[in-house]
Amino acid sequence: MAERRKSMHGEWSSRWVFIMAATGSAVGLGNIWKFPYITGENGGGAFVLLYLLCIAIIGIPIMMAEILIGRRGRQSPINTMATLAKEASHSPHWKFLGWSGVVAGFLILSYYSVIAGWALSYVFRSAGGSFDGASADEVGAIFDGLLASPESLLAWHTIFIVMTMMVVARGVRHGLEKAIRFLMPTLFMLLLILVGYALNTGAFSQGLEFLFSPDFSKLSQDSVLVAMGHAFFTLSLGMGAIMIYGSYVPHKASITGTTFYIAGADTMVALVAGMAIFPIVFANGLEPGAGPGLIFVTLPIAFGQMPGGLFFGTLFFVLIVFAAWSSAISLIEPAITWLVENKGMKRATASIGAGIVTWFVGVGTVLSFNLWSGYKLFDKTFFDLLDYLTANIMLPLGGLMIAVFAGWIMTKQATQEELHMHDHFGYRMWRFLVRYVTPLGVTVVFLNAIGVI
Ligand code: PHE
Repeated sequence: MAERRKSMHGEWSSRWVFIMAATGSAVGLGNIWKFPYITGENGGGAFVLLYLLCIAIIGIPIMMAEILIGRRGRQSPINTMATLAKEASHSPHWKFLGWSGVVAGFLILSYYSVIAGWALSYVFRSAGGSFDGASADEVGAIFDGLLASPESLLAWHTIFIVMTMMVVARGVRHGLEKAIRFLMPTLFMLLLILVGYALNTGAFSQGLEFLFSPDFSKLSQDSVLVAMGHAFFTLSLGMGAIMIYGSYVPHKASITGTTFYIAGADTMVALVAGMAIFPIVFANGLEPGAGPGLIFVTLPIAFGQMPGGLFFGTLFFVLIVFAAWSSAISLIEPAITWLVENKGMKRATASIGAGIVTWFVGVGTVLSFNLWSGYKLFDKTFFDLLDYLTANIMLPLGGLMIAVFAGWIMTKQATQEELHMHDHFGYRMWRFLVRYVTPLGVTVVFLNAIGVI
């Protein structure tokens, strides 16, 4: 066996800590904000089915690949790719894959932070009682008012970037780790309380039907690509976030079991969020395809009406902020580790630099909701384009290459060693998926999106 490497950035104290951190990365705005609104835009059940299918046959094998690559390389994704490629007698140029991940991470964080800023502002709105007894129209007006103000959006975006960089500067283990342990279960409990509320809206079965009864005629040309892109986005795959977290995993930990746990938890949170939100949408005569504002115009109505809503509403938005926070740190971690390894920077300096760059790109997203809302390319605003480019193109392409790397470039012996598997059925199945099914699946979806098939 090759000599075991050590990460210069440290190691998780246990497998559980890794599970918490990776779940913290996976569960975020993607589950609570993005999943409901894109499901609404893409007609519901059939889209959800496609998304689940992508998680199972594309997401899970790639997550295993990312963790095992990370743990074997034990460096920033850029250096890990170069090292492992050389180890397998291939070109070190594979490090471009690490680079494309770093770029994707910056781009995603730049708009992720703006949306997290909406949630931050809602914490204060909610605590101040703005949503108390508010009608759908009143909540809609509050949300529109927020989007119309570049100053407010910019202020919240700035605060979120500073929060993220403060944690990143301290290192993953001393950063959010402790908070996440408590926050994740609380978030889940609150989602269940919301489902309880949704049960009494009178539109629960309509919500469930929308989510779970597939009607393929409702899919659009783009839906399959969006479903696949979201599978990558929600599991934090294709850009090195899970790879870098994998690089801190103790050697003994089992990768397969861990992956199922993370993917399962992530999927549960998304589905439960959907079960809470759609009944509220239908009970209030709102539009499921309302777009990125969906949860920001539906949930406040629910909290505004339920007993203790001021408290639960405020807590809920606090938890969304934390979920976003624990995802945001993983978006920038690959870049930080590279700056530390190759440029000899301190984590703190690297974090400040990365924060400034991300902040500037984020200004484009802030303006795309107001001053620049008229500027469109392919009928998309700056924010729409960035979201589309990263989630639907960069992440799946990155994931495709990661699968090829794990399946075709690394030796069988190396992947078996990391997965702690012999030539058993489980291993053969995984290898078949990353070698054939995943690359082919991603390619077919791309070809379908551009109308070739
Ligand atoms: N998975 C996160 C979410 O669902 C977003 C994310 C994407 C985080 C890619 C890291 C890497 O919100």
